[in-house]
Amino acid sequence: MTDSARFLTMIDLPESGLALLREAGEVTHGKDVGGNAALPELAASGDYDVIVCALDQTFDAVTLERAQLKGIANYAVGYNNIDVDAATAAGIRVGNTPDVLTAATADIALLLILGVTRRAYEGERMMRAGQFTGWAPDLLVGKDVAGATLGLAGFGRIGRAVAERALAFGMQVVFAPRPPAHREVSAAELGDLAGRVEQVRWEEMVERADILSLHVPLTEDTRHLVDADVLARMKRGSVLINTARGPVVDESALVEALRSGHLFGAGLDVFEDEPAMAAGLAELDNVMVLPHLGSATRNTRDEMAVLTARNAIAMATGGDIPACVNP
Ligand code: DGY
Repeated sequence: MTDSARFLTMIDLPESGLALLREAGEVTHGKDVGGNAALPELAASGDYDVIVCALDQTFDAVTLERAQLKGIANYAVGYNNIDVDAATAAGIRVGNTPDVLTAATADIALLLILGVTRRAYEGERMMRAGQFTGWAPDLLVGKDVAGATLGLAGFGRIGRAVAERALAFGMQVVFAPRPPAHREVSAAELGDLAGRVEQVRWEEMVERADILSLHVPLTEDTRHLVDADVLARMKRGSVLINTARGPVVDESALVEALRSGHLFGAGLDVFEDEPAMAAGLAELDNVMVLPHLGSATRNTRDEMAVLTARNAIAMATGGDIPACVNP
């Protein structure tokens, strides 16, 4: 390992990863050299081998054409903040953090499914407001998840982990991998889930699901995958869950579907214009919102930091990159 590797971290990387970077070379913190506003100049400066970043740092084609970097190590599994084609054309490697956050993110999807169907968030607000006046037969009556049909849009690592959890709660699981494109998933690929989940077309899933949960990356194909038309085709009284990326849902159309009562509710961990929420969303009772907590457990964030650092070190020193997304 060389001691000349130069890392620029634009985020407060947890110590588990930072310590590895410090052992491998010099570490500069982005906030000491101009922060996000200076990112294009920092990338072009030639002063750093690898930039460590997260969702708030955008690397567009213009920045990447001028960048003098060996790599970009993204502290996230999703990498829609980086134009990977432009990075590849510029000879820049891009790393992400798959696997280590699968369980934590699937847990948050289940939390939202249960929170929305059982109206837990409404109950929590009621308690804090001192409005609980005693048990009543019709107080915050919700929906059963056992027997409900869960539609999974996307059937990658996180979609599968949600399927496992949902089956344990007695849900029927249907899925459409990477909609809207259709691809048959073989029984061999399904492994343990073969015979326990059913693959259907995207359109059929939208119409059958009592709960539709999104697990697709954000790409030009999946931007507004759930638009006003899809929301209208969802069953009356169904639930939408988004732990993927905000722009996969047309949030203004969602506000209308929630306001009209067409949807029973929605659980959102991500937002179209994050950290802002669409006008009207915060005023609705039938939506549970979380501040992008999918991977937010201590253990998961520490493991993400280690993987990010390993990616960065390999990019800087020429070793095998543990998780590289360039084709
Ligand atoms: C990811 O990893 O893509 C999450 O959204 C942030 O942890």
